Amino acid sequence: MPKSIIIKKNGGPEVLELQDVEVGSPGPDEIKVTNHAVGLNYIDTYHRSGLYPIKLPSGIGLEAAGKIDEVGSNVSEFNKGDNIAYASVPLGAYSSQRIIPANIAIKIPDGVSHEIAATLITKGLTTNYLLTKTYHLKAGETVLFHAAAGGVGQIFAQWANSIGAKVIGTVGSDDKIKVAEENGYSHVINYTKNDFSKEVLKITNNVGVPAVFDGVGKKTFHGSLACLKTRGMMISFGNASGPLDPVNVPKDIQPKGLYLTRPSIAQYFTNRKELQEGADSIFEKVKFGKIKIKISKKYTLADAKQAHADLEARKLLGPAILIP
Ligand SMILES: NC(=O)c1ccc[n+]([C@@H]2O[C@H](COP(=O)([O-])OP(=O)(O)OC[C@H]3O[C@@H](n4cnc5c(N)ncnc54)[C@H](OP(=O)(O)O)[C@@H]3O)[C@@H](O)[C@H]2O)c1
Repeated sequence: MPKSIIIKKNGGPEVLELQDVEVGSPGPDEIKVTNHAVGLNYIDTYHRSGLYPIKLPSGIGLEAAGKIDEVGSNVSEFNKGDNIAYASVPLGAYSSQRIIPANIAIKIPDGVSHEIAATLITKGLTTNYLLTKTYHLKAGETVLFHAAAGGVGQIFAQWANSIGAKVIGTVGSDDKIKVAEENGYSHVINYTKNDFSKEVLKITNNVGVPAVFDGVGKKTFHGSLACLKTRGMMISFGNASGPLDPVNVPKDIQPKGLYLTRPSIAQYFTNRKELQEGADSIFEKVKFGKIKIKISKKYTLADAKQAHADLEARKLLGPAILIP
């Protein structure tokens, strides 16, 4: 019988319940998929905790890769047996089999496994828009990225290096320094031990960086502003340490004439064409070896509670997946 993780109330990892589910048949514009690998994303913890409100009870998880079992009567782009991935609402990727709208599916090219595909779409699309659309990162520039050894962090530096840019990274423990360096960070700062703003200014000869990519949120916001050069861009794209406090524009933004943005994937990939182009750009980088993905840990679906606990305890050394 197919299984799915369901949440009935918001809370800690303990609210993730594994249940048997009836999947049924796809509607005209839907496909039925057997998930072979499910991507673990920090965003999943926001849906679980209630930081990003969702209607309950609900499935959880945005991202998975697998094989199509059945296609709806209006679906012409996909066939039974196709290998696909997806990373979008409706939530429910933490499942062994499910039905999804066909328009969120992306064909996986030959040579990319389900496991790799399941780690790539959310983190890859995020990296794609952050450094090609939100900020146009150029060869020769040096920028700052927080949580450098994390899922998005590992892809970010490899992608930045592939266009000739350098990235200074921060990490929360010494064992993550090597991981960040292996992924291409030019300098790595343990921000639990050192004042990262001072370090960044030292590295940049007191000039600062033109852009900071900050998925950590509350704890790093002010330090990140201090790292920016005049007219630099603060890109706050996540809340791993908690959501931002209200911003004091005259005090925080005005003195250096900074730019501040708080972007999300959905604002940059607004239709099927943009989604497919974004995904293709990631698959191409993986195929040509510009981005190498090393899965740091695999959990069973039944171990989703442990996976969330490890992610929130900052124990993971890179992207992780659940195997249904
Ligand atoms: N806006 C968007 O479009 C978008 C899309 C995808 C992801 N995101 C965001 O991108 C960030 C990275 O996502 P990811 O899935 O790749 O996760 P991740 O980086 O693998 O995990 C989050 C990391 O945040 C760091 N962190 C710092 N303070 C923390 C705290 N108090 N509690 C827990 N972790 C803390 C930890 O690294 P250290 O121990 O090294 O500090 C942890 O490993 C997240 O904030 C996520 O919400 C945003």
